[in-house]
Amino acid sequence: MNYPYQIKNLEAYHKAYQESVEQPEAFWANIAEHFTWKKKWDSVLNWSFSPYKVEWFKGAQLNITENCLDRHLEKNGDRPAIVWEANSPEQAALTLTYRQLHFKVMQFANVLKNNGVKKGDRICIYMGMVPELSIATLACARIGAIHSVIFGGFSAQAIADRLEDAKAEFIITCDGAYRGAKEIPLKDVIDDALIGNHSIKRVIVYTRTHAPLSMIKGRDVWWEDEIKKVESDGNPYFPAETMDAEDILFILYTSGSTGKPKGVVHTTAGYMVWTNYTFVNVFQYEPGQIHFCTADIGWITGHSYILYGPLSAGATSLMFEGIPTYPDASRFWDIVEKHKVNILYTAPTAIRSLMGFGLEPLQNKNLCSLKVLGTVGEPINEEAWHWYDENVGKKNSPIVDTWWQTETGGILISNIANVTPGVPSFATLPMPGVQPCLVDEKGIEIEGNNANGNLCIKFPWPGILRSTYGDHERCEKTYFSIYKNYYFTGDGCLRDAKGNYRITGRVDDVLNVSGHRIGTAEVENAINCHTGVIESAVVGYPHDIKGQGIYAYVIFSGIHENEEHTRKDISLTVSKIIGAIAKPDKIQFVSALPKTRSGKIMRRILRKIAEGDTSTLGDTTTLLDPTVVEILIEGRL
Ligand code: WT7
Repeated sequence: MNYPYQIKNLEAYHKAYQESVEQPEAFWANIAEHFTWKKKWDSVLNWSFSPYKVEWFKGAQLNITENCLDRHLEKNGDRPAIVWEANSPEQAALTLTYRQLHFKVMQFANVLKNNGVKKGDRICIYMGMVPELSIATLACARIGAIHSVIFGGFSAQAIADRLEDAKAEFIITCDGAYRGAKEIPLKDVIDDALIGNHSIKRVIVYTRTHAPLSMIKGRDVWWEDEIKKVESDGNPYFPAETMDAEDILFILYTSGSTGKPKGVVHTTAGYMVWTNYTFVNVFQYEPGQIHFCTADIGWITGHSYILYGPLSAGATSLMFEGIPTYPDASRFWDIVEKHKVNILYTAPTAIRSLMGFGLEPLQNKNLCSLKVLGTVGEPINEEAWHWYDENVGKKNSPIVDTWWQTETGGILISNIANVTPGVPSFATLPMPGVQPCLVDEKGIEIEGNNANGNLCIKFPWPGILRSTYGDHERCEKTYFSIYKNYYFTGDGCLRDAKGNYRITGRVDDVLNVSGHRIGTAEVENAINCHTGVIESAVVGYPHDIKGQGIYAYVIFSGIHENEEHTRKDISLTVSKIIGAIAKPDKIQFVSALPKTRSGKIMRRILRKIAEGDTSTLGDTTTLLDPTVVEILIEGRL
């Protein structure tokens, strides 16, 4: 494949950017010409932010898997689509060529059909990072079912909530997953999530760990048995379902400032064009290169830059089952050397954690295949940026700092490798099609450079979320009402003298823990479920490796056994309700929380105390009882 829309130099970037702003429809229509359509669009873009409605390529028909698989077969069918590296370095790696992946996706689409799946049905996928996760996800897209992948770290309760919200009827899972030295009992968690559930018709279980399982007659079936049945049918072919451009491709749940996670909705054509365009441009992918995105497919990064972006570009995508520190802290570098990885895309938290092991794990590792490095998920501190640049890129590979969100589908602000300059800790410039702006508290745009404000986007790009599943009003309220006529990102941001953007972090009650979004309200709700808890307040604090840690202030009605024990009980409660990723790092027992006379918790003060910055607490006179603050400071952990 060649990419005629790949931006090759700075001048071309400025030209593309200008065109995308001045003539967005012509600009995107030109790019869309390079995809496979069953029918072309009637209109390129229909939009309004108030009320919120966006449609890209309306009237067009396509199937994203024809773009990710079928169209590569003739010329590149034998090129590796997915290279899979197992959790254990002892297990042989596996390669699926485009032809093999195409075959397996169609085969599993037949399995789905035999099990009663139809276009538009919601399927929850809860699997480890095995190749079958990619196959299952693409098979849903092939048949036109809406996938909702749930990260393997979420608890039974979190899954149950998502199943209900998505009105899902099917689940694809594994017996278990290997993650470092741990074995995660995925099917067991699903069983717990399904207690009392009468909506799930079928659970398809892929064998990975051979853990003993309960398999319920009439509901649970083995992946391998189902494959055998379609094999004996003899016809592996499965025609790609015809989808409208705006048919839902997937739902992905993400946290916000209210208690309940939202099902972010992405549709077919716009998402496809956006992930492909950003993949090809930001990383400057060249045919034949090996792209290694270390994210899990359970997050948006994996959806967009392990699956849909790379595969629609005919790229080779490396999928890794394990973790960076297993069996030791040189695992990433071993993988880079073994597979001659050209593009490494990872999270600042992983870089910081590896930094902690020193340079020894990098010694004698041949990293010269690396051409482009990337980061995503949270602001990268300068120290980590330089470590990555010097020790991994050997000062020879650009680092793309890619800012985006679950809601944006793909990268919105980033430097472009070898095309636009990188600046440590800056995401730098918007992609063509992206019109960022900074607004003040009142929603007034702050013009000019050297500005600081809330980051908004003025105009739709093809990958923008279309709704929040089952509750469009919530989508409008969350993203399009706070600042009228803008998409509000929830991030604070500054723009320097040259117009480069630097993301400073969330300005709402959302934490970013190891690059994962966690709502403080969600954690508080979980903590409050513990029998002894009367009230709680959760804030973030700077954490050396995770970026942000979770600090909980808890009013407790009588300590059970001892404080340490109670802390563990509370953490376990959070694990059960959300998942281990949301466990508080610190729990401070308090007798009261700083509240205003109207009963509002003053989080600003709680944040300052958790950060250990008590010199500038600001005005505390509006507090109902200002003495509370002194007690909190004394008890700080
Ligand atoms: C939030 C989105 C984008 C996929 C992974 C996270 C933060 C993301 C950066 C970056 C600074 C970043 C923002 C954003 N974020 N990338 N390069 N620099 N901050 O997706 O879970 O939807 O979280 O992650 O705060 O709003 P997500």
